[in-house]
Amino acid sequence: MLRTHTCGELRLQDINKTVILCGWVQKVRDKGSLLWIDLRDRYGLTQLLLEENSSEAQALLTARQLGREFVVKATGMVIERMSKNSKMDTGDIEIKVTEIEILNSAKVPPFIIEDETDGGDDLRMKYRYLDLRRGIVRKNLELRHRMAKATRDYMDGNGFLEVETPVLIKSTPEGARDFVVPSRLNAGEFYALPQSPQTFKQLLMVSGFDRYFQIVKCFRDEDLRADRQPEFTQIDCEMSFITQEDILNMFEGLVKHLFKSLKGLEFAKFPRMTYADAMKYYGADKPDTRFDMQFVEITDLAKGKGFKVFDDSEIVVGVCAKGCAEYTRKQIDELTEFVKKPQIGAKGLVYVKHGNEGVKSSVDKFFSPEQLTEWLELFGAEKGDLVLILSGETEKTRKQLSELRLEMGNRLGLRDKNVYKPLWVLDFPLLEWNEEMQRYHAMHHPFTSPKPEDIGKLHSHPSEVRANAYDMVINGVEVGGGSIRIHDRALQATMFRLLGFTDEQAKAQFGFLMDAFEFGAPPHGGIAFGFDRLCSLFGGAESIRDFIAFPKNNAGRDVMIDSPSEISEEQLKELSIGVVKSVK
Ligand code: AMO
Repeated sequence: MLRTHTCGELRLQDINKTVILCGWVQKVRDKGSLLWIDLRDRYGLTQLLLEENSSEAQALLTARQLGREFVVKATGMVIERMSKNSKMDTGDIEIKVTEIEILNSAKVPPFIIEDETDGGDDLRMKYRYLDLRRGIVRKNLELRHRMAKATRDYMDGNGFLEVETPVLIKSTPEGARDFVVPSRLNAGEFYALPQSPQTFKQLLMVSGFDRYFQIVKCFRDEDLRADRQPEFTQIDCEMSFITQEDILNMFEGLVKHLFKSLKGLEFAKFPRMTYADAMKYYGADKPDTRFDMQFVEITDLAKGKGFKVFDDSEIVVGVCAKGCAEYTRKQIDELTEFVKKPQIGAKGLVYVKHGNEGVKSSVDKFFSPEQLTEWLELFGAEKGDLVLILSGETEKTRKQLSELRLEMGNRLGLRDKNVYKPLWVLDFPLLEWNEEMQRYHAMHHPFTSPKPEDIGKLHSHPSEVRANAYDMVINGVEVGGGSIRIHDRALQATMFRLLGFTDEQAKAQFGFLMDAFEFGAPPHGGIAFGFDRLCSLFGGAESIRDFIAFPKNNAGRDVMIDSPSEISEEQLKELSIGVVKSVK
């Protein structure tokens, strides 16, 4: 080893030791007779001290040539600092340097490599390897490592086997588009990168593996957001001979284990909510339950009283914002503008204030004070509260109110990133009607089993059939989702037909799975967690990018390696791209 210690470990008890440290120069302060260097490595910062007029003249000479991010090796003695720095782990000591060697020089970095940096997002991504030197970014990756370790500990402790599944596969329809890879050996044919290892983990159950998991890369060509990357990581899991209850308990256990081992937090049993209730009371299938503000429907009270907007609406629904009755005109206008933004799309906002001067509302003209008071009672509104109401078509209005609820949560400081509220959302619908394609889509995926009691409605009322599907939601983030699977060939075939596949198409795409179901498929089910999302939640951040070593930007590009990029004519030719293969 070139070094005896790291830059993060020396303390008062090491005083008088001769040590060798290696690292990057974060800062040099030259006061003439004294010169200090902050030396950084993965473990922290240590202050080096060089003095004039001592026997270390050569070392001082070398030190004066150093620039930011030079790589150096310094030998010296640990001494107690005159003025200690309580903000630094090594702040009680410094190294009185006797020898310093430049291991490599460095160009002036394009941004300051400290927690507080002057580098914008694009610049930091272009030089991500420098960005990763910043303690704040490095800590996120350290957290990610510990999360993966704790996950493996829990899974191994519960008898799960980690099995790798292939990355060059064939497309599995899970809602997103596939990334495809041309095959040189099979001209005109393509592999697809897995959106998830779904079919493989089911096949492993048929093989008798019984408890599988994998921390695995998945690829989806979809529009990107703060919590979505085109390649991301799942903790993918599957079990045989289980009920839904077993899955919920096993994986609630995993998340509790992560909270306990990484954050020292303990939780009681996670609350459970049906999908129908989540939509009714929060307007979202991933409600943020750190704060209450549940929806209250006043459709029956509000319709038929001569206010056309309500009369023409399917639903009239609102939330009660505690202590907001004194909101000014300007504040109410801001909220109205918020719901009218094109991304939200409401036509307007109705308010009822339960203020000091009595009940006031934007619809005073249409409703008597008694009527408004009746609404307030339904909302449980007390003096000082503000009720905000939207109306329109049920599904759209609920979504809009959900956005308004979250906005109010932000404004009222109710979404504390250090508070964690996990819950299970259960009983998702099996199918979702796609207006554009005029057919049903599987809400989770086509391998999800209907609730046995709803199977009778598969043909008569498909949209009413509920699935044995569940999501884990923490603070309004869908961190995981899964289902009990179909393990019966006939039911799987029915499902494909409902989804608009002909028997031939189903056979061509999923014949291997349907065939496997004829060779003794056990009842099975599973779940996959978004590992990047879990990490960012534990790290108290909104964007998963900070927890991925080399992420893509919002346009799906890696600006550091400049990818995607064009390939040469020869490569294209070799891959037979552009060559149309005759249809078999
Ligand atoms: P699903 O599609 O719900 O289920 O994905 C599981 C979890 O993966 C995370 N996730 C993402 N994270 C980052 N970027 C993305 N683009 C992205 N897409 C999804 C979410 C999500 O809850 N095979 C099934 C699981 C199963 O049924 O067992 C599946 O992939 O946190």
